Amino acid sequence: MNIYQVTIKPQDLIVEAKEGEDLLSVQINAGLTPDAPCGGQGTCGKCLVDVLEGDAFRTVTACQYPVDRDLVIRLHEKKTFHILESGIRRELGTLEPQISDGYGAAFDIGTTSVVCYLLDLTDGHMAAKASMLNPQSQFGADVISRCEYAMEKGVEVLSSTIRKALNELIGQVCESSAIEKEQIRLITVVGNTCMHHLFMNIDPRPLTVVPYEAVMKEEITMKASEADLHVHPDALLQVLPNIAGFVGADTVGCLLATEFDTLEEISLMIDIGTNGEMVMGNKKRMIACSTAAGPAFEGARIECGMRGTEGAIDHVRLEGNRLVCHVLGELEENEAAGICGSGLMDAVAAALDAQIIDESGKIDEDCEQVFRLEGSNMPAIRLTERVYLSQKDIREVQLAKGAVAAGIELLAGTLGIKISDVRKIMIAGAFGNYMDPHSACRIGMIPPQLEDRIEMIGNAAGEGSIIATLNYLEFLRAEKIRKKAEFLELASSPDFQDTFVDNLLFE
Ligand code: FES
Repeated sequence: MNIYQVTIKPQDLIVEAKEGEDLLSVQINAGLTPDAPCGGQGTCGKCLVDVLEGDAFRTVTACQYPVDRDLVIRLHEKKTFHILESGIRRELGTLEPQISDGYGAAFDIGTTSVVCYLLDLTDGHMAAKASMLNPQSQFGADVISRCEYAMEKGVEVLSSTIRKALNELIGQVCESSAIEKEQIRLITVVGNTCMHHLFMNIDPRPLTVVPYEAVMKEEITMKASEADLHVHPDALLQVLPNIAGFVGADTVGCLLATEFDTLEEISLMIDIGTNGEMVMGNKKRMIACSTAAGPAFEGARIECGMRGTEGAIDHVRLEGNRLVCHVLGELEENEAAGICGSGLMDAVAAALDAQIIDESGKIDEDCEQVFRLEGSNMPAIRLTERVYLSQKDIREVQLAKGAVAAGIELLAGTLGIKISDVRKIMIAGAFGNYMDPHSACRIGMIPPQLEDRIEMIGNAAGEGSIIATLNYLEFLRAEKIRKKAEFLELASSPDFQDTFVDNLLFE
């Protein structure tokens, strides 16, 4: 087999590649972290690189381009991505960490981003915080593609990648607060069940097959060094527990941050991502479920979809009968490169108000904003010169909102309450933080009668991690919450399909 040289620009990195190896693997092997939302399946079209030939270049899909000679490639510039670090804050009466001197590091490992908070264990103050995109995104944007990668290539690749990221963040917070890594004596981790398993080096296979069981649910306490974390040699690592295969330690962190187990009023806590994890109830009874909301609100599987980075339409409003777009990065409307989840939700809500789409989701072709797409000849709504919403995109939104709305309805049914009995809705997570609650209600994802009871709680999972770091009793409380929370498996619920179909309409 031939070995070729690949020169990667702008770093001017020269690496060797086997004949036939694709350019995505070449970048990964070189220690770079390319964006590969579909995990190299060739379906997302997001792993573009330029292959240079003298002064000319050709843009290719890296995961589909085999090395067949010496090559010079140029990587595309990565867009800056805003990571949500803050959220609801909870006053902790007393500090009783598991280790009471030195510093603690609290982590929230999200599928998209990782946040680290450095805490002084003696007085609880936050000395520094840092965040980064989860470098596992080079193996796929969502949990399923990462599980598939782990099953194919071994879980170690993913666990070592995330452990390395945690060490890097530890380095960053130590540098910015001028402390030594050896002063860190306690580490806490929260994350969804898949992120938890990949961090713990647990084979995530059971998460991908019915009944989607978590391999490990209980809280974990072990030596940080056993998870390759380079801090004080005797430092402890505590990992919050998981409720189910798709309701993880991050949800438990949110419940801890909101003290859900003490609430008198019926409440709903919801975190919308590829999965919509939600918990409904109060101190007497709480039921959790997870709905496959799909990746639409993360900008995936949407024709002009993108993450919430510079150039993304993040909000749309109706002025007269014009759809007016706001573009991230202080850009003009016509500079928009795509649309992210919050913009998508607004666009559909505004198009409903303007009667460009009807209750069934069908685009009205007589409206002036509507045109037919070249190739497919399908109708689409023009938002800007380059960005549009296709009929297929609207169907994706219907699937996503239908799944979330069905989950809410079935939780209420299981609790034996009416939707109007829910007194408070707490929306956690990055997408929830940027979405317009009115649009979420207008499209019917959240029952409209609850609109004035919505509260954004930001990165509540991160706050849960902080709380468990600063107070060991809270860490133990997390385990009690796990045991107390019931889990409703929607896939096996006989009513799910009908409820889901009923909720597909925009009523
Ligand atoms: S098309 Fe290459 S990673 Fe998705």
